[in-house]
Amino acid sequence: MTTKIIGTGSYLPEHVVSNDDLAKLVDTSDEWIASRTGIRNRRIATKESGADMAAAAAEEALKDAGMDGSEIDLILVATCSSDFQFPSTACLVQKAIHATNAAAFDLSAACSGFLFALHTAHAYICAGIYKNILLVGVEVLSKLIDWNDRSTCVLFGDGASACVVERGEGLYSADHGMEGFVQWSDGVSGEVLTCPGRKIENPWKENDSETEYIQMNGQEVFRFAVKKVPECIRQVTEKTETQIETIDWFILHQANSRIIQSVAKRLGVPEEKFPMNMEQYGNTSAASIPILLDEMNKKGMLQPGQKIILSGFGAGLTWGAAQIEW
Ligand code: UT7
Repeated sequence: MTTKIIGTGSYLPEHVVSNDDLAKLVDTSDEWIASRTGIRNRRIATKESGADMAAAAAEEALKDAGMDGSEIDLILVATCSSDFQFPSTACLVQKAIHATNAAAFDLSAACSGFLFALHTAHAYICAGIYKNILLVGVEVLSKLIDWNDRSTCVLFGDGASACVVERGEGLYSADHGMEGFVQWSDGVSGEVLTCPGRKIENPWKENDSETEYIQMNGQEVFRFAVKKVPECIRQVTEKTETQIETIDWFILHQANSRIIQSVAKRLGVPEEKFPMNMEQYGNTSAASIPILLDEMNKKGMLQPGQKIILSGFGAGLTWGAAQIEW
């Protein structure tokens, strides 16, 4: 048995913020941002909550799969910017899409979140526990950003995307679906990309934490990504005994075009196999991989039988790759 993606959908906020708009807020320029990152625009939530966006993406994915919310057994939402500490965004989505027969919970693995959620869904499916699972990646990173910090505020965007996955037959076989995955974490190096939660405010507190915003050592994260992403892609293709040249698409977390170009070079794979959309949406963390997957699905770029690698990396540190046959 394996896990097949049978429907995709996305929601991007309407409000577009360009690099020129940001140059009015901080000392930056379109030239600097575009040449260092490949990003030109990002969508920013001005009225939508994360749960609103997640539910809209979920509705679209369900429609694409020809399913109703009541047929879903489990809702897994990958996010690091949830609307509430509790209830989880997954429970808010459950309410919005009337998934009355589902269990629902959130999963936090930052920019690797969607990929880790896909692996978790696969484990549930292979264990025979659930059949139909809704996966969502959603972020409202705009509320975690210090809009005076040019080193981070130019990088991120808001958005949501969802996939419906179901149980298919064959275990890591020629059947369409998940063929293999690897996932890793390195908590020891986690300080290079952080965002604190709420402060301790009880009457006995001993320390004040300093900042409430995303903080990043960009160069360290860059070095980590260009080393670990090719490494985990090689690991997954070795596991599935697949030649890298036979992979049709590499759908990577959309953080920086230079990271993706470097990964392509290190793997010896033509850049054309690495689609990118960070130019329009920036880095949407857990939502970036499924937004791109959905975009390619809608454009008819994904054909049955094609082999696809999904790979994510980010805070934690966390990283991993999945190989699927479409
Ligand atoms: O989802 C995973 C999360 N993050 C990532 O994947 C990010 C990985 N890292 C990166 O993408 C890159 O490191 C950045 C795009 C964040 C930064 O690019 P860089 O080439 O590593 O630049 P840098 O940090 O070395 O900064 C170079 C210069 C500095 O000025 P000085 O010290 O040379 O005078 C910065 O102060 O660029 C300056 N700078 C800016 N200038 C204009 C930093 N941010 C900006 C900005 N506009 N927005």
